[in-house]
Amino acid sequence: MRPSLPKTALLFDVEAVRARLPGRRIDWFESVDSTMIEARRDMQTGRIVGAEEQTAGMGRHGRKWISEPGAGLYISMVLAAKPIPVVMLALGLAARHAIGCGDIRWPNDVLVNGKKCSGVLAQLERDTIIAGIGINVSQTAFPGDLETPPTSLLIEGVRASREDLLVALVEAVDRYCELSAEEIVRGFAGASSYASGRRVRAEAAGKLVEGVTCGLDRAGFLQVREDSGTVNTILAGGVRPI
Ligand code: BTN
Repeated sequence: MRPSLPKTALLFDVEAVRARLPGRRIDWFESVDSTMIEARRDMQTGRIVGAEEQTAGMGRHGRKWISEPGAGLYISMVLAAKPIPVVMLALGLAARHAIGCGDIRWPNDVLVNGKKCSGVLAQLERDTIIAGIGINVSQTAFPGDLETPPTSLLIEGVRASREDLLVALVEAVDRYCELSAEEIVRGFAGASSYASGRRVRAEAAGKLVEGVTCGLDRAGFLQVREDSGTVNTILAGGVRPI
């Protein structure tokens, strides 16, 4: 990991973002293993850690987050603790808001034209949450054979600068995280086509279930009704459309 370089050596105009988010601590790096690891070194609430490139970007469930240099927004934010399930929903809502379009697949993948454009990770560290958000901005191709087809804003014809995205994202994360759990769950239900009426496959209590989504509970967990009528609560792992 190299420390921040002088502004002229960076592609991302962090000074312009600092000017638009006065008082906000933003630490920007040319290259890190993962902004999640970097953020853990100093968990000052409100701190934002971003990087041009991650050499070991992390996804949920031990997956990798491919972080091509300069092509995506790769950030972690240090947040005051809140129950993780609703924070996950709030972060997905914030990412969608920053992107300005798309759908949210529970709990927080932002899909544009059905392909994944943004992913979110949240780790609880004592009384603090480290939220990691990745947005694919200008990639033109993705390596490997990923389960959910990835996309970028550029591929989908959405033009956005990483600086504008970061400002919009930080403001939206702040706003959504201030809401009550009830408001966040309601907001998610209104923004995500996955909240109800979608036929999905998911894991519940260690078994694979198939059914139709039928809302979220108060804590933010997705409910899936099997054809037999049994309603399952999906606690983790996400859902796949079928
Ligand atoms: C997922 O959808 O699996 C979550 C992806 C989260 C990626 C972001 S990029 C910035 C932050 N640093 C990481 O190593 N991961 C998150």
